[in-house]
Order: sequence, then C-alpha cells, then structure tokens
Amino acid sequence: MDDKNIIKLLNKTDKTLLSLLKDGSLFSSEIEIKEGIERAAIINSARKMLSAGLIKIDRITDTKLRLTSLGRKYLEEGLPEYNIANLLKSNKNVDYKLLSANVSLDKNELNAAIGSLKKFSIIRIDEGKITANLDKLGDIEKKNNILSEIEEDKPVEYKEGLEDLIKRGIIERADEIKEEFSITNYGKNILNEKEFNSDYIDKLSTSQIKNWENLKFREYSRNPEIIDSLSGKMNIKSKFMSFIKDVMVSMGFKEMQSNYVESVFWNFDVMMFRQDHPDRDIQDTVYLNGELGKVPPKLLENVKKVYEKGFYVSKYNESTGYKRKFDDSKSNVLIMRGHTTATTFRYIYDLISKNKDKPVKFFSVDKGFRNETMDNTHLLELYQVEGVVYADNLTISDLIGYVREFYRKIGIEKIRLKPTYNPYTEPSLEIQAFSPKLKRWIEVGNSGMFRPETLKPFGIDKNIIAWGFGMERMLNLKLEMADIRSLYGAYTDIDLLRDLESAKIFGEI
Ligand code: PHE
Repeated sequence: MDDKNIIKLLNKTDKTLLSLLKDGSLFSSEIEIKEGIERAAIINSARKMLSAGLIKIDRITDTKLRLTSLGRKYLEEGLPEYNIANLLKSNKNVDYKLLSANVSLDKNELNAAIGSLKKFSIIRIDEGKITANLDKLGDIEKKNNILSEIEEDKPVEYKEGLEDLIKRGIIERADEIKEEFSITNYGKNILNEKEFNSDYIDKLSTSQIKNWENLKFREYSRNPEIIDSLSGKMNIKSKFMSFIKDVMVSMGFKEMQSNYVESVFWNFDVMMFRQDHPDRDIQDTVYLNGELGKVPPKLLENVKKVYEKGFYVSKYNESTGYKRKFDDSKSNVLIMRGHTTATTFRYIYDLISKNKDKPVKFFSVDKGFRNETMDNTHLLELYQVEGVVYADNLTISDLIGYVREFYRKIGIEKIRLKPTYNPYTEPSLEIQAFSPKLKRWIEVGNSGMFRPETLKPFGIDKNIIAWGFGMERMLNLKLEMADIRSLYGAYTDIDLLRDLESAKIFGEI
C-alpha cells in the first residue's frame, strides 16, 4: 500500500500519537496524561499503527517492591531484629529466655529475626548467651529504614538485606510492566509527507452534509493485507479453553453451567469451611450487597447438624463435627464465588443426590474470584478447570489416574502430587508442575476426595473425587511465560495474543 493511502486511513488520534512520538519515545501513561486521550483509544490506535509498521512497542519491566501485611506491621512496630538489637544495646549479654520474654514476638518471628542477626554477624550465641557486635548495629538500622523507604516508593538498594526480607515475607516484588511507544523510520517518512497535515473528515456534521462535495474524507481500508493484520482474532486463552474442554469431553465428562455470583452457603458452608476460616475474610473474598434466593431449608438444616454435632453411622463411619454453633445468618449473603467447587456442590445437590445410582462425571472451565494481590503467579480472576467423578468404589488411585491423564493430554508432563489440607476433602492432593522459566515447582491445582461430612447432608455415602486446576498457570507453562499477567488487562502481551502460530502448540488431543 502506498504512503498516501496509509495516511488516509489514519484518524485524529493516530495522527496525534504519531506526531507526539516524533521527538522520542513515550510510555502509554505519559500520553494519557499529556494529551488526555483515553487509554483504550491509545491502545487501539497503537495497535493499528504497529500493524502498519509506523510505530514500535517495547515492553519494559520496572522492578518494584512493596510491603506485605507483615511488612506494614513491622513498619509500625520496627523489624524484630531491630527491636532485639536495641535491647542488646543497653544489655550486652542476654540469654534466649530473657530475650523472648522482652520482645513480643511469636516463636517463628523470633527465630527468623535471630537467624538473620546471626547471618549478618551482628550477634553470636554461646551456650545460650547472646553477645552483640555493636559496630554492626548501624546495618540493622539501615535495614529497618528500608521498610519506610519502600513505603514511600523510593528506589532501594542494599541487596543482601532485601533478599532476606523477601524470603521472610516482609516485602515482595510487584513489578510493573510499561509499554513504550517509538516511531519507526517508515513512521517518520509518513509524518513528513505533505498529505499528513491535510485534515480528513471522519465524522460528518449536519452543516457539512449540505456541502459535502468538496470535503476530503478519511478512507477505510478494504485491502485484505491490512484487514488481516488488523482484524480480530480468537484470543489464545479462548483457544486454550476450548482445547481443555475437548480434553475433558474426550475423557467422558459433561459440562456444568453456572454463575459467577454465589451465596456464602454454596461457596463455604456446604463445604464445611469453619465459620472462622480465613478464606471467608473480606481480605480474601469479594462480598456483594444483597441476597440470593434461599438455600434449600432441609439441606441447610442438615449442614448445620453435621457442622455442630457430626454424625454416627458405625464405629468406622462417624464424625464429631466442629462441636461449635453454626450461624446461618450469613448463609444467603452474596459473593463472587471463590472457586468453581461451589458449582460442583450445586450439581451434587441437583443431580447426584437425586439419582444416587447413576455414576456421573462433570467438569467446568470457568472463573473464580479472589481478593488477592496480583503478582507474576496470582490473578484476581482465574479460570479453574473443575472436575468431579461420582461412581461406586472410587479410591484415591482413581483421582491420581485422572489427574495424571489430564495433564498428560494437555502436554504438561513434569508434575508431582503432594498431600495437602482442604476443609472439604480428605485425603487432599496438591498438584505441582515444574516451571523451567521460573526454575521452580509451582502449584497448578488442588484435588481430593470429599469428606463424609460434606456429603452426609445430601444423604450420599459413596466416595466422590474432585479437583480444581488453574487454567492460566497451565497456559503459562505451555507458553513458557514468566508472568501470568501477560495474559490479562494492562499487562497483556499483545504480540503474543495475536500470534496465531502459538496456538498451534495445542495440537491434537
Ligand atoms: N476448590 C479448590 C480450589 O479452589 C480445588 C478443589 C476442587 C480441591 C475440588 C479439591 C476438590 O483450589
């Protein structure tokens, strides 16, 4: 396509953006602020000009740190080692016992602090006696000050101390990815064309309609090359999702239908989460106003009974329950469901409990919502691959078989299973996969056999096995990405998402 024709396709925003880049590259946020152009419009225009070869987009990672909630606590109270060091200033020789009596720290915090003081040679311990090296106290003060520097967003050095604070969960990395736009040589040529400055009309006013013959209009391309490079393509996530659905169907599972909004009952109560379980906190769960239609009263009553008192069938089939009161006043409160297992339990109620002789296998690939801090392995919304199997005589080996078979079909071979805890399954297995990119094992799923306490209220005696796998983490492993956020929102790696070739990795089932 010749230059003049390209120019005719550019709208006002495109032209403004291109002119801005004349004097050097800019971050999208700078353009937003300088020109007051909305982010969505900038991205649209940048995409178009990227495809036409007028600009280049570089993604730059800014290393950032922030305090965790523990870090914020220490910001107020002082780092434990700092408090200990202060104590040692006035009291050069103390023993461990005296120390633990004088600082209000739990055992883990105290040990971590002492470990760190030892590591930095600030203290020595001989036969229970602690001796301080007072020359080094300045280092500890510096380390303590790091917390307020991070809080104020100042650039922070002092590497050794930082790693220690990260390991102990006091600070964490919260890298920011920025998009930097710059003009290409071709873009510069276009900018210098005389044509570039003529105004083409792309919105016609009433007065212009009367006199349109002499106006110059912006053109819209019907050139197949340009259309192909600009047109929408199926998102790689959607493709991966349909690939997973095909895998589940090939393994004999039927898809479940569900809603994002759930009640506390279906998300927590029915699964025997203790009513003081931290997952129920507003820090972890997104609460909404309003209430959903009532929980089936008989079921609520059964759940309450098992929660409070357990049940007795025989010596080998009994439970004491939690031996505490079940408060049903919150059961109808609305939340964004934290996991798709809420849906599994609706299916247990609607289908399995009403037809106990019929073996069934259900799955869903759908969203769960968590009030989390985003980082390179955590999202606020995540797709979960939920599976549930109901049949006679199921054992944990069946579960292991399904899990291994599923990951094999997806093409993730290097996995391992580790016993874990869930309030609603026993035994429970966490699934870990090795990430060559992050060079460590990461949790990719969780699974187990539903506890009898969760099935008793439905009158179900058979075993049910179930799981929830994280879809984005799976896709991350397949695409060898280091950051899960490349798939979503402002951090999206557009080049990758537009790359049809990468979808081919999903291969045949
Ligand atoms: N609901 C669990 C999660 O969110 C996954 C799971 C499903 C675990 C079913 C056991 C059984 O991680």
